[in-house]
Amino acid sequence: MKNYSLGKSNLQSSRLIYGCMRIAGDQSVNDIANGKLAVHSAIDAGYNHFDHADIYGGGASEQLFGELLKRSPHLREKMILTSKASIRPKNNENPYAPTRYDFSKQYILSSVEGSLKRLHTEQLDLFLLHRPDYLLDIHEVTETFKQLKASGKVAHFGVSNFKPSQVAMLQSALGLPLLVNQVEINIHNIDALNDGTLDQCQQHSITPIAWCPLGGVAYAAWGNTFLAKDEQRIAGELTLQAQKYNCEAWQVILAWLLKHPADIFPIIGSTTPERIVAAKVALELNYSREDWYRLLEARNGQSVP
Ligand SMILES: NC(=O)c1ccc[n+]([C@@H]2O[C@H](COP(=O)([O-])OP(=O)(O)OC[C@H]3O[C@@H](n4cnc5c(N)ncnc54)[C@H](OP(=O)(O)O)[C@@H]3O)[C@@H](O)[C@H]2O)c1
Repeated sequence: MKNYSLGKSNLQSSRLIYGCMRIAGDQSVNDIANGKLAVHSAIDAGYNHFDHADIYGGGASEQLFGELLKRSPHLREKMILTSKASIRPKNNENPYAPTRYDFSKQYILSSVEGSLKRLHTEQLDLFLLHRPDYLLDIHEVTETFKQLKASGKVAHFGVSNFKPSQVAMLQSALGLPLLVNQVEINIHNIDALNDGTLDQCQQHSITPIAWCPLGGVAYAAWGNTFLAKDEQRIAGELTLQAQKYNCEAWQVILAWLLKHPADIFPIIGSTTPERIVAAKVALELNYSREDWYRLLEARNGQSVP
């Protein structure tokens, strides 16, 4: 797979990123074995960028990945490791505390420490703020990022699920480039196309990374609002296009994302080795502007004005 720069950096990422959210499954022996197989399949297929978060599997996903790196340390040299933090679930230690977002210096520093330990690595190539904290203090975040950079624990920074105004606000104080904004983009959720997220990415060379790229197609999207008749209409168009491009419907969806000139990097979250490999077919489709709009029309149930 060809590699491309992330944001304004020399980090060279495969265009498809492998998402590690599901690799530990239900943490049974069987699921852990499947997760390891999935990661090896991704490495063999040329994915060099792996997406984590402190909360995936309650830490079990990073743990599994770290065990692979401990056993085969040479793999680390060629890969980009991303992790994220800020979502703090309810926990037993403090039953009073609700699920919350936390960009405080103390929390971010301790979360990065935890990720480094679980992943068996000394540095994260990329650290993302997972979801915007309503109590975001740009000066505190700036201080935290500078400390993480100076200590060598994090090389680069980015954000996730940020609105353009939040990216602009943080970037104005940071003094370091935000390389990526990781947001949900799929056939159901096209907010990023309409709310200025992809415009800002193009304008400022920020790489948009699409999480759950197949939501609403391979499985119900988060907060799915499609009616059965919407799904039938979209499936009908996808079937036609899949025949035309001699591929599968879900690969058409990836091609639809890849066509956007902001250069979206989809994160592939399948744990099925065949699908992890087959996602690369989307990179080779010569997907047309006309088909892009036909699919948008099928999704919206009406043509653009
Ligand atoms: N920043 C954020 O807030 C955020 C939020 C969510 C996720 N993420 C990141 O995004 C990554 C990708 O998310 P995701 O796993 O939801 O993405 P996805 O690739 O859209 O979905 C993967 C899921 O779809 C299934 N699937 C894939 N192809 C299929 C097909 N052809 N038919 C039926 N089912 C199919 C997979 O099942 P199998 O495993 O059985 O193939 C798996 O359950 C995560 O791993 C995580 O790294 C980030």
